[in-house]
Amino acid sequence: MTDAPTPPTTTTDSGIPATSDEYSLTVGPAGPIALHDAYVVQKMQQFNRERTPERVVHAKGTGAHGYFEVTDDVSWFTKAAFLGEVGKRTEMFARFSTVAGEQGYADTVRDPRGFALKFYTEEGNFDMVGNNTPVFFVRDPSKFQDFIRSQKRLPDTGLRDNNMQWDFWTLSPESAHQVTILMSDRGTPKSLRTMNGYSSHTYSTINAAGEKFWVKWHFKTEQGPENFTDADAKAMTATDPDYHRRDLRAAIDRGEHPVWRLEMQVMPFADAAKYRFNPFDLTKVWPHEDYPPVQVGRMVLDRNPENFFAEVEQSSFSPANLVPGVGLSPDRMLMGRVFSYHDTHLHRIGTNYQQLPINAPKAEVHTYSKDGAMAYKHSGAQPVYAPNSFGGPVADPQRGADLTWWVESGELGRYAYEKHSEDDDFGQAGSLYRNVMDDTDREHLAANIVGHASDGVTSEMQQRVIEYWTLVDAGLGKKVADGLRAAAPAV
Ligand code: NDP
Ligand code: HEM
Repeated sequence: MTDAPTPPTTTTDSGIPATSDEYSLTVGPAGPIALHDAYVVQKMQQFNRERTPERVVHAKGTGAHGYFEVTDDVSWFTKAAFLGEVGKRTEMFARFSTVAGEQGYADTVRDPRGFALKFYTEEGNFDMVGNNTPVFFVRDPSKFQDFIRSQKRLPDTGLRDNNMQWDFWTLSPESAHQVTILMSDRGTPKSLRTMNGYSSHTYSTINAAGEKFWVKWHFKTEQGPENFTDADAKAMTATDPDYHRRDLRAAIDRGEHPVWRLEMQVMPFADAAKYRFNPFDLTKVWPHEDYPPVQVGRMVLDRNPENFFAEVEQSSFSPANLVPGVGLSPDRMLMGRVFSYHDTHLHRIGTNYQQLPINAPKAEVHTYSKDGAMAYKHSGAQPVYAPNSFGGPVADPQRGADLTWWVESGELGRYAYEKHSEDDDFGQAGSLYRNVMDDTDREHLAANIVGHASDGVTSEMQQRVIEYWTLVDAGLGKKVADGLRAAAPAV
């Protein structure tokens, strides 16, 4: 808030000077309030409508403004203008969030973190709506709602429930890789500044010569990955539930602007069919030895929002926001998300949410969409239909962003993903545990699983938990079994 030496006169929302900030219009000091005190009535009505619905997931978060700068020539795999030349800068806005909790939930609970980025490019907005993990719990959008409900609250008690979480996970073996990361200390990042961000999904790109590639985006923290232990995260949850929000804001205010390096994995288009993993399966990474990351640029967050509601709460991201040079892939989750985000924004914010300053592109908009609640941008007397003979905008297939791939025709049906030679649900989780984690990581992982699965989880469910972790790694399964035996009796 700013201190004004001579404060301006309070007005109604119509700009009419108000007569009092303190007293309603009453009939004498003890008399009734007059209904025609339009100013006080307006204050109450506005207050009652002060909230929009919170995001159905990722409700608790915070954000900051910044820029993206290209550091390396990547024109060999994309023609996207904002990645066009070394040194080029693009304005951006980032929002980080927890997933399962509501608006007032603590920042430091065990959860994946959302890592949502909006690049205001000259070709329209590009949104990268990722997480701080390179994979996800499920691989088909039909399971997303069920997964999220298992993380939320029971219908009768309104309480979160570990038993429900393990029920879903153990019945959904494709979750094992993501649950391994979630139960490791990466499930409790120390700050938003010290976590990586990942597209998780595979996207496509196309260069100026028309050559296509499959890519994955990795935003690596230059502050270095740092996490809380389970105990430290719980202590911080009790001390300062807004710790991450406060930390990011304070760091930027101090001039410590957090930086992430963008690295991308690039796969030639033709490799996908024969790659040892199905490259479109969101529960898998592409091992770095197969596709070493290439440097692309850096993202710097250097400006705090002036108004939390206008900039953070009303910000809206969508995987449908792609720019020419970047496209989707056969990842079904990604395709499902392309529908879901615009739909939820229409409900959460309103028809014309894209006209709000935080969401509006810096590029010119020439659209045949018109009118609707709260519309204020318009194109005057522009024709309202296409094609027309009166100078309305005309689509350009050369500039347009459709990035396509061949689909073998087949019978319409409900199919599992095509299995590639090394695909299984537990292999990559096992290599993370055995080959990437150090002894401390492994110890914490086992202890975190035991802590979580001994809190309100039935003994029948614990048996399934042990089997699940044994499939990730036999040694880990034994540690979990021993730990659960030694922990408090199951419910
Ligand atoms: P590499 O050794 O080449 O890379 C391992 C990656 O794991 C690094 O990017 C590192 O990121 C990250 N990492 C380190 N500790 C953890 C942890 N406790 N939890 C999650 N990630 C961690 O191995 P591969 O590429 O062959 O992959 C092996 C396993 O590593 C995978 O099964 C996957 O679980 C994990 N991983 C792989 C990624 C990939 O894109 N290939 C990305 C992230 C994880 P950092 O720089 O942040 O330390
Ligand atoms: C937020 C749906 C998978 C990352 C949301 C929201 C919905 C949603 C409805 C609320 C948006 C809002 O109200 O503004 C889905 C569906 C998915 C899916 C249907 C699968 C089919 C994923 C995956 C990731 C992800 C795989 C990460 C890789 C995010 C992030 C946000 C979000 C970061 C918060 C965006 C913000 O900060 O405003 N999702 N989601 N989601 N989702 Fe997803």
